[in-house]
This record gives sequence, C-alpha cells and structure tokens, in this order.
Amino acid sequence: TYVIALPCVDVKDRACIEECPVDCIYEGERTLYIHPDECVDCGACEPVCPVEAIYYEDDLPDEWATYHRINTEFFQELGSPGGAAKVGPTGYDHPEVAALPPRGD
Ligand code: F3S
Ligand code: F3S
Repeated sequence: TYVIALPCVDVKDRACIEECPVDCIYEGERTLYIHPDECVDCGACEPVCPVEAIYYEDDLPDEWATYHRINTEFFQELGSPGGAAKVGPTGYDHPEVAALPPRGD
C-alpha cells in the first residue's frame, strides 16, 4: 500500500484524491489517510502531492515509519467502505495525528 505521512498534516492539498482510480484516500480533520486494503498500488497519487507526503510503504523515510501503522489504524472504526466520496470528511483523526502540535507557518 501507499501511505500518507506527516507532511500532509494541516496542509491537505487534496490533489491526490483526484488521481486515485479506486477512491481509497479518506479525509480526516488534519490529514488524509490511504486505505491499506483498498489501495491498488497504482502510484498515481504520489507525484502530485506538492509536499511529498505520499510514499510506497517500503520507501517511507524512517522518521515517518509510524505512518504506515497510523494509516491502517485510522480505518479500525470505518472498516472498508469501498469509496471515500460517499464517506466524505470524517471530522476526526488517528489519536497520534490529533495530538500533534499545530504545523505550518
Ligand atoms: Fe495531503 Fe498531499 Fe494529498 S498534502 S491531501 S497527501 S496531495
Ligand atoms: Fe490510489 Fe494512490 Fe493507492 S492513487 S490506488 S492511493 S497508490
């Protein structure tokens, strides 16, 4: 699967959503999350992110390795809805993302 890491937090450019052919990028309050079971590893999202937040799981920088688990755990409540558009913005985050200090300028 591909993973969205720390650079997305408080940025949420959303360009990635437009690229995903299976609509598996879900919106939280402060970041977006890729569904690990719904992502088909097409890789289309990765180059369009302006802050380089998206990585193939094996290519995640060590400093953001926890985001593999965070993206997965985010879906413990949602399960596998099979499409982010019908879910819409969830309004919540993984607790470790919610606890981050505000990012940005
Ligand atoms: Fe976030 Fe980049 Fe997508 S900032 S919303 S991962 S385009
Ligand atoms: Fe979608 Fe990116 Fe996976 S475009 S299928 S989330 S690699």
